[in-house]
Amino acid sequence: MPGRDYFNFYSAGRIVIGSGVVRRMAQFVETWKLRKVLLVTDKILSRIGVVEQVAGPLRTAGIAVELFDGGEPEPSFAVADQAIAQAKSCAPDAVIGVGGGSNLDLSKIVAVALTHGGHYTDYFGFDKVPGPIMPLVCIPTTAGTGAEVSHAAVLTDVSNRMKISTLSHFIRPALAVVDPMLTLTCPPRASADSGIDALTHAIEAFTAVAYQDLDVPADETFPYDGKQPIGDCLAERAIELIGRHLEAAVREPDNLPAREGMSLAATLAGLAFSNNAVAVVHALEYPLGGELHCSHGAGNGLLLPFVMRFNLPSRISEFAKVARLLGEEVTGLAEEEAAERAIVAVNRLRTAIGIPLRIRDLGGTPDQLPGFARKSFAIKRLMLLNGRTPTEADLLQILQAAW
Ligand SMILES: NC(=O)c1ccc[n+]([C@@H]2O[C@H](COP(=O)([O-])OP(=O)(O)OC[C@H]3O[C@@H](n4cnc5c(N)ncnc54)[C@H](O)[C@@H]3O)[C@@H](O)[C@H]2O)c1
Ligand SMILES: [Zn+2]
Repeated sequence: MPGRDYFNFYSAGRIVIGSGVVRRMAQFVETWKLRKVLLVTDKILSRIGVVEQVAGPLRTAGIAVELFDGGEPEPSFAVADQAIAQAKSCAPDAVIGVGGGSNLDLSKIVAVALTHGGHYTDYFGFDKVPGPIMPLVCIPTTAGTGAEVSHAAVLTDVSNRMKISTLSHFIRPALAVVDPMLTLTCPPRASADSGIDALTHAIEAFTAVAYQDLDVPADETFPYDGKQPIGDCLAERAIELIGRHLEAAVREPDNLPAREGMSLAATLAGLAFSNNAVAVVHALEYPLGGELHCSHGAGNGLLLPFVMRFNLPSRISEFAKVARLLGEEVTGLAEEEAAERAIVAVNRLRTAIGIPLRIRDLGGTPDQLPGFARKSFAIKRLMLLNGRTPTEADLLQILQAAW
């Protein structure tokens, strides 16, 4: 009999959330007695002064800060090589990632390499990191991927045009510092893409296969547990906050209450997905993003309503709840009709914030779709986690609908 009679809940070691909290950085790491840290970031965040908001308080406390600012969106192997090379010559006591999911993922890869040696490709897949890693702090500047609390780090294999993840509970940061004020400079495009990614995390977590039905032996380690009650609470709250705040955060960059709502939502969604699941949306985005060079969030936002359409028959009550949480008026509707409104709400939101609506808008061609379906179907763990188990032909149909 497949399935499990228990579920787990993992988190980052400590999560600090509040507007302006980065000025207290030194206090948060005081007991670690750090002498030198490597700050992993990118040139944009360095230039506009976001990095200094983190580095300044550390330097004032007598901690030497070395910068690696060669981070890039959807980081490639080449950037990982550069970051690790600099990290080895720096030999820091701690690694601090500052940025969107791209820089945070890079900081995780660097911390693993410094702690355990080897090559980052050794750690691709689940549970390959052999043990705890050196102190790692993640400070998000988008809202966001949830990488500050998650067990995932994603790199892009440019030669194979595919995203590849390292999944390990050892790579959850020891400390996540979530300061919504750092997202005030985040441009509308990155705010929209990372915001719809957070919504995708919450919806995929909330509509995943139940942990009792996960078709993996109970004694086998697996990167996700399936839909479970703690993750569900977090996902529900995240969906509600995103429904209320995402559009305003994109349209009015200085709207602090909207930024605060989105920062909290993104972290909650990160906790939800990294325990429950991501599923078919993320599986399809891996080849789509790798091949068509859209951001992770844009690819997910494009695919989300089409995968919801496929999942809907097996998840009627969950989607009816998603519709309510997104602010749809569903009083008096039959549950099936209410569930449909979840797709309406997601379509309205993604249109309002300028997410590409079709694969052809990204330059994709119909002859590419079978290859995308094949590559996605090969990511077996994400197929097992989906609320409705797909065949490869189902994936192709979803892609054709999205084309
Ligand atoms: N580890 C995880 O759990 C996880 C989850 C989801 C996605 N991801 C990964 O995260 C990446 C996407 O991350 P993202 O959506 O946060 O975007 P990003 O990190 O790729 O950043 C996009 C751009 O926005 C800029 N930017 C970010 N914050 C800014 C700010 N406050 N002010 C000005 N500019 C800012 C960056 O410099 C960058 O140029 C992808 O590689 C994806 O695979 C990881
Ligand atoms: Zn994602």
